[in-house]
Amino acid sequence: MIAAIVAAAGSGERFGASIPKALIHLGDRTLLEHAISSLSAVADQIVVTAPAGFEDQIRALVGSDVTVVTGGATRSDSVRAGLAAIQGADFVLVHDAARALATRELAAAVVAALKAGDVAVVPALPVVDTLQNVGADGYVVSVIERAPLRRIQTPQGFSYSVLKSIHESASDATDDSTLALDAGYKVRVVEGEERALKITTPSDLATALTFLGEATTFSTGVGVDAHAFAEGRQLWLAGLHWPDEVGVEGHSDGDVAAHAICDALFAATGLGDLGSNFGTSRPEYAGASGVTLLKETFVLISNAGYLISHVSVQIIGNRPRIGSRRAEAISTLSQALGGAEVAILATTTDGMGLTGEGKGIAAIASALVIKR
Ligand code: CTP
Ligand code: MG
Repeated sequence: MIAAIVAAAGSGERFGASIPKALIHLGDRTLLEHAISSLSAVADQIVVTAPAGFEDQIRALVGSDVTVVTGGATRSDSVRAGLAAIQGADFVLVHDAARALATRELAAAVVAALKAGDVAVVPALPVVDTLQNVGADGYVVSVIERAPLRRIQTPQGFSYSVLKSIHESASDATDDSTLALDAGYKVRVVEGEERALKITTPSDLATALTFLGEATTFSTGVGVDAHAFAEGRQLWLAGLHWPDEVGVEGHSDGDVAAHAICDALFAATGLGDLGSNFGTSRPEYAGASGVTLLKETFVLISNAGYLISHVSVQIIGNRPRIGSRRAEAISTLSQALGGAEVAILATTTDGMGLTGEGKGIAAIASALVIKR
């Protein structure tokens, strides 16, 4: 029996998105779904380690055939959490969700080496750059001989008992083969893949897209909305209720940020606008919340074959102050858009024009979408 652990519990700090890195989209699927799809060709059981708080979202994404457990503070802790959910396996593959495009052939090559008798197997690639030790003073100290050096990737494979024993103590390393080597096991190297790169920064995602070989076209759109303040109305803005603020006029909840984003998405995809999609000819949307309209817009553009690369919205008004609730607003809007990356900015207009007179709130949004 072959089991696989997908380490997906990292936050993706270096990537800098508002959602965990494993949930970022690459082409038509998340990094995690890509990683699972290659492993499922060779593994009988797959365990995913999820970031705390994202277990249910990931369960819904990966389906009931995959076991989801809560990851730990370090990658090694996460692998141990995954290992605890595995029983009766002969071999275990450990793979980074961030290496989304490693192929099933690579997983199969690692398994083949295990079946041939190796107890620890890693994919690796040669180093192309010259390597040097550089001192704190900014001068080169020495040159490192490049020829024997390798860049180590995943999926890495281990006999179950070896993986179990190297994780018996709470040791920590950036990968499992390091622990195996420290414990004195022989680590076999098989040839890795350029496409198994670890997606770490947004530019890696662009590189990964080229490996995916999908012809992608980007398009952008801008959307604007403004509403006047109206005493006695509740304020809804950026998907949130602002209990201490004066609301705005409108048939809907008057969420100018949500509406501007909807229009930016419609503009980028050429699918009309808020009025033509949810206007008076669609009475079922009368009074719909901004979040509902975002969700419906997301469904419409997804059905038309578009993915959201990024959405940003700038709220223009003297009130409310957005800063303290920015993270909450980003997460609400992002969820309504299927986990898309969202940025929220706010500004005043120095007492002039638009909303500077304090008569209402406006928002300008832009959207970048990918047609697949
Ligand atoms: N990982 C994990 N548990 C952790 C930390 C990392 O399961 N506590 C996983 C990540 O989800 C990723 C893999 O280990 O798939 C490799 O880690 P890395 O690329 O460093 O991802 P992150 O830790 O999420 O990114 P960063 O270091 O930039 O925060
Ligand atoms: Mg990390």
